[in-house]
Order: sequence, then structure tokens, then C-alpha cells
Amino acid sequence: MKAMAVFKNSREIGIIEHPEPKITTPTEVKVQILEVGACGTDREICTFEYGTPPGSDDYLIIGHESLGKVVEIGSAVSDVKIGDLVVIMVRRPCHHAGCQPCRAGRQDFCTTGDFIERGIKQAHGFLTEYVVDDQKYMIVVPPELKNIGVLTEPLTIAEKALGQVKIIQSRLPWNLHHSAVVLGAGPVGLLGAMALTSRKFKTFVYSSELPSDQKAQLVEKMGATYISAKTHSIEALAKVVGNIDLVYEATGSPSLSFDIIKVLGINGIFIFTGIPGHKDPIASDLALIMRNMVLKNQDIFGSVNASHENYQDAVRDLVFFQKHWPSVIEQLITNRLSIESDSIKEVLCGRMGGIKNVIQWLA
Ligand code: BGC
Ligand code: ZN
Repeated sequence: MKAMAVFKNSREIGIIEHPEPKITTPTEVKVQILEVGACGTDREICTFEYGTPPGSDDYLIIGHESLGKVVEIGSAVSDVKIGDLVVIMVRRPCHHAGCQPCRAGRQDFCTTGDFIERGIKQAHGFLTEYVVDDQKYMIVVPPELKNIGVLTEPLTIAEKALGQVKIIQSRLPWNLHHSAVVLGAGPVGLLGAMALTSRKFKTFVYSSELPSDQKAQLVEKMGATYISAKTHSIEALAKVVGNIDLVYEATGSPSLSFDIIKVLGINGIFIFTGIPGHKDPIASDLALIMRNMVLKNQDIFGSVNASHENYQDAVRDLVFFQKHWPSVIEQLITNRLSIESDSIKEVLCGRMGGIKNVIQWLA
């Protein structure tokens, strides 16, 4: 079968022939891949800065934002059936007996760092014709989500983060009207904004695009407010929002993030989701930030990857988004390209533009 592979050593990317996987245990499922989304992590892998092939292979099959159709099931499979649409989870547990999160199926909190990620770290990914994996790593997607089901994995980032916000905010048992600022209007930011708006946060998206940009219009259509960094300084943003109860960072920019942290409100929560590359040290007013954290009861945390439950929550939210904001969620996918397209490398290497770009196997 065909697969899209990245050769780190020879710095090449291209379609290769790869053996078609077979079901080998009773709980495995064979999935025909329909679509794969591309994100910043793929860009890093395709520019040879990130990503590790499995075992002794000299290439990594890329792709971790999946949507596929079940075509074969092992004899003991009960969670999915042939014909189901499924999304396959990214992370697999480490092998250490003492890693409690991994042993409990919560490899998103792995403590050893030896977890495996399909399409990213030591396991082949999903930009291939067929994938076999255990049923416990599959999430069924209802047929009405066929057009947007590929957004499940990027939405899990918000699901995991907002699950933790709920726990933190339980320290404030008053019925506050929470405000949230999302930094960045890429797919992670826009999906985060939808998740926050649907949870009744008064949501603002702060990003570099002009207010006339399509992304700004999508923000307004979901009932959130777009504030352009071109027209509003950080101080002006803080004035518009009032007490900033929550910041959901989705830019990967350390300088912007630590400037915004300075205006985080009383009892505020700041969530990092972006993964910046290695940069030279950047100066910031650490005494101010530390003073605020203490005197304003602030919480600052980072969040990566997601649990099976977070994937299920993402599917549930996608159903809600499709019902309430169908044009917004569908317009998040700006390009759908066939695997045969000449622009595949542009998409994977992040040079395509648009919001979420998706690669398809079938016409
Ligand atoms: C993926 C996560 C993964 C992270 C770090 C992200 O793009 O969505 O599943 O844990 O990269 O490799
Ligand atoms: Zn991703």
C-alpha cells in the first residue's frame, strides 16, 4: 500500500510502498484511512526538526489527525463494527511497569517520557491507506460528522485543557460570568474558542489578522469577539475584556504569552498549548509575574495530548458545533487535497495558508 513518509537523514518526503498491516490479535481493528489533517507538528517533522521513526526504519509515516472507516475486526472486538467511522488516538503508553499514568491508560500524563506517538514519535502514522490498531485506541464518530470528524484530534487539546479548568474553577463555587481570551486564530485557537463559547465563557480571540480577515468573521459568527493585535495593544485588549479569567494560548509564541500573562486577572487561569521551538532566552518582568501569581491567586499550566474520554468529549462537542454553528465549523477546513496533489508538501510543511488543511485518500 501507499504511505507518505519523511526520511529525516536524507531530508526527503514522498509517497512510498509500505506493507499493508494485518490484524494479529483478537481485539485489533483494520481501518481504511479517509482523511488526515495537517498541523504545526507535521510542519516541524517535515522540516526535519521533530519526529522519530520506529525501530530501525529510516522513515516515519506521517499524520496523526485521522478519520477512517472500519473495514475488518478481530474476533473479540465489541467497541466498533465494520463500516463505522473512527478516529484513532495518537499516543501509546510507555513500557515501564512503574509508570502509573500509562498503566492506567492515561499515557497523556506519562511520567517517563518514553511514550510513543503515532505519526510523531517511534510509530508510523495515519497518512497511509490502512492502519491496524487495538479497539481501545479508537473513537466512533457518528456518520453526520463525516465532513468534520477529522477535527476531533485537534479539538481534544481544548477538551483536556478545559477539563482541568473545570477542576481548578471548582475552588470558586460562585456563579461567576467567566471571560476567556484565546491567543491565536489558527485551528487550535478557533476550536478552543468554540469550546469556550459553548461552555458560556464570554470569549475574545486576540490574533494578528485584521478584523476583515475570514478568521475574524468566523469568531464573530460563533458569538465570540475578535480583537486584532493590529488595532489593539495588550493594554487595550485588557481594557475591553475587564478581569481576564482565563487565557487559552494557541500561538506557540513565548514573547506574546508572557506579555499577556502580565494582564491575567484576579483568580485567573493561563493555559499553554503551543510548543515553541528552541529559542534564545527572552527577557520578561518575572517579579511582576510572580507577584501577580501570588497576590491574584493565578494558575498557569500547560496541557498536551488527550485521553480516550477527551476524544469522546470532542466528538460530542463537534455534534454541538455542527448543530449551532454549521458554517463556522465547516469553514475551518479551508483546503481538501488528494494525496496525489502536487501541493502535498506545501500542506505538510505549513506553506499552504488557510486554516485547517486536510489530505484525502479517496476522491
Ligand atoms: C499532537 C499531540 C502530541 C503533540 C506532541 C501534537 O500536535 O496533537 O497528540 O502529543 O503534538 O508531540
Ligand atoms: Zn496535530
